[in-house]
Amino acid sequence: MIEQPMMVKICDIWGESPGVKTFFFESQLRFDPGQFVMVWIPLLDEKPFTISYIQDGCIGISVLKRGVFTTALHNKKTGDTIGIRGPYGRGFDLKTNSDVCVVGGGIGMASLTTVVERLKRVTVIQGARTLTELLYQKRFKDMHVCTDDGSAGLKGTAVDLFANFLVKQQFRKVYTCGPERMMVRVVELCKKYAVECEVSLERYMKCGFGVCGQCDCSGKLVCKDGPVFDLQELDMMGDFGKMIIRKTGERVPLNGSVH
Ligand SMILES: Cc1cc2nc3c(=O)[nH]c(=O)nc-3n(C[C@H](O)[C@H](O)[C@H](O)COP(=O)(O)OP(=O)(O)OC[C@H]3O[C@@H](n4cnc5c(N)ncnc54)[C@H](O)[C@@H]3O)c2cc1C
Ligand code: FES
Repeated sequence: MIEQPMMVKICDIWGESPGVKTFFFESQLRFDPGQFVMVWIPLLDEKPFTISYIQDGCIGISVLKRGVFTTALHNKKTGDTIGIRGPYGRGFDLKTNSDVCVVGGGIGMASLTTVVERLKRVTVIQGARTLTELLYQKRFKDMHVCTDDGSAGLKGTAVDLFANFLVKQQFRKVYTCGPERMMVRVVELCKKYAVECEVSLERYMKCGFGVCGQCDCSGKLVCKDGPVFDLQELDMMGDFGKMIIRKTGERVPLNGSVH
C-alpha cells in the first residue's frame, strides 16, 4: 500500500457509456476486488474510486461524471498524469466462489466487475435508468439487465429482477453495490431467502485510511472497516440506508440517494 500519491500516466481511456469513462494506468500494486484507490488531481482534490479492471501490470477505474472532480478527470487525455494512493479498504470475501449472484445498480457495477471475473457460475444482474447507461455490456455478454424506462431488459429495477431470480434459483451468496436504497432492498431479500450477502457502501471520504472519521457509519469506518460489509455487520449499523455524513461533517438523512 502507498500512502503518498504516486504519479501515474494514463495509458488508455475507454468510453463505457455517455457518462462513464474508464481510465487505465500502469501499476504493479496488488488489488483485491472491492478495494479502492484515492485519486489525486494536483491543485484540485482527492477522491475515492474502486478498481474496475485488474490486469497484469495495469489497472482501470471507471468514473461517472458527477461534479467538479469527475468532470476534471473526464477531461484528461491519454498521456496525462494523475496521482493515486492505495489500495485501501477491505474488499469482497470471495471464499464462496461459485453459484453466486451479483446485483449492480448504476456506477456501483464498477465494484462488482472484478468479482464476476474471479468467480464461477455467476448470475450478473445490472440495473440502469436506460439502455445507454448500461455498463460493460460487451465484457459480460450473458448479463441480465433491467432499465427504468424499459429500453433494455426488464422494465423495472435491479431489485425486481433479483426478486424474480430468487423464486427460481438458489444462490450461495450475493454481492451488491449501487444506490443505497437498492442495497437495502437486496439485503431484505437475502434475509428473507437466507442467502449470505456482502454490500459495498459509499460514504464521503477524505483520508481513505481511517484517520479523519469522515466516512463513519454507526461506528464503522467505511474506508478501513469496509467498504464491503456482510449482513451481520450491517445489522449493527443503524445508519445503513438511513444516515450519512456530509462533507461539512453534518449528519443528515440519506434522503433517497446514495449521498
Ligand atoms: C469507496 C468508494 C468507491 C467509489 N468508487 C467509485 C467508482 O468506481 N466510480 C465512480 O464514478 N465513483 C466512485 N465513487 C464516488 C466518487 O468518489 C464520487 O463520485 C466523486 O468523489 C464525486 O466527485 P465530484 O467532485 O465529481 O462530485 P461532487 O460534486 O463532489 O459530488 C457528487 C456526488 O458525489 C458525492 N461525493 C463527492 N465526493 C465524495 C467522496 N470523496 N467520497 C464519496 N462520495 C463523494 C457527493 O456527496 C455527491 O452526491 C466511490 C466512492 C467511494 C466512497
Ligand atoms: S475517510 Fe477518513 S476515516 Fe474514512
